[in-house]
Amino acid sequence: MRDDANLATCMEELAFMRSFVRLCDDGYRQGWHERNGGNLTYRMATEDVAFARPFFNETPGEWKRMDVEAPSMAGEFFVSTSAGSYMRNISSETSRYAGIVEINDEGNAYRVVWGFEDGGRPTSELSSHVLNHAVRAAATDGACRVMYHAHPSSVIAMTMVVELNSRTITRLLWQAMTESIIAFPMGVGVVPWMVPGGADIAKATSKLMRTYDAVIWASHGLFATGADFDAAFGLMHAIEKAAGVYVRARCMNGGSDNFRNTITDEGLRAIAEEFNLPINEAFLEETLI
Ligand code: 13P
Ligand code: ZN
Repeated sequence: MRDDANLATCMEELAFMRSFVRLCDDGYRQGWHERNGGNLTYRMATEDVAFARPFFNETPGEWKRMDVEAPSMAGEFFVSTSAGSYMRNISSETSRYAGIVEINDEGNAYRVVWGFEDGGRPTSELSSHVLNHAVRAAATDGACRVMYHAHPSSVIAMTMVVELNSRTITRLLWQAMTESIIAFPMGVGVVPWMVPGGADIAKATSKLMRTYDAVIWASHGLFATGADFDAAFGLMHAIEKAAGVYVRARCMNGGSDNFRNTITDEGLRAIAEEFNLPINEAFLEETLI
């Protein structure tokens, strides 16, 4: 058994829960979580569930239907922030503003097994999280476990002025910063503006998650995924940093996107070759091959 599991006297002391809380704090400090903006889920590994089980409620909650179905997520356990919770409060009152849910055998309902004290429930974006987890787990041979949604300003601002498609936005982000293409070689998906919180936006997002490990919601925010908390946080950070560079450069350029210097497609291709990246070829100009 891992040390943290042997020594833990409560759920909050387990390693996966400490990492969950740390990401919430880090995201808040970045300014990505005004009010209750953003949410986080973690698909627990089998050993996490074993370590957590002694702290589960004696009686699980009632099964609650979700508005999406994800059969491959049947029997999975997810840590989730609660609907309406402020990211800045997750670390101080974890069992109130976060919790653990179990998914039923059909993959269409959940029940609370820990946390969400005082009548809380999982994030209003649970449908998106669960569908995205299903798609990313399949795309990564089970490696992807973290689904992180935030409201970073520069990404949101960018969606107000540039063409809303994955290729255009990915290229601008790749060109803004040399290491962008290393952080997200497959690019970033883009969902046009949609009403948040329901099955429609969940389906539109998860469709893009077959290709991309990060998806922008226009005029709203960004979903970043990863095998662990560092990977998901790092991806969010890298995309927002690149968007910030783009926004600044454009402001310095009198609002024009006609930049004096940028990274060429040849340059992008050279980085991909140097680092042996699984790059999205369709996003580079073919004439330069
Ligand atoms: P929740 O508080 O329900 O997680 O919603 C926040 C949010 O960002 C919705 O998109
Ligand atoms: Zn949101």
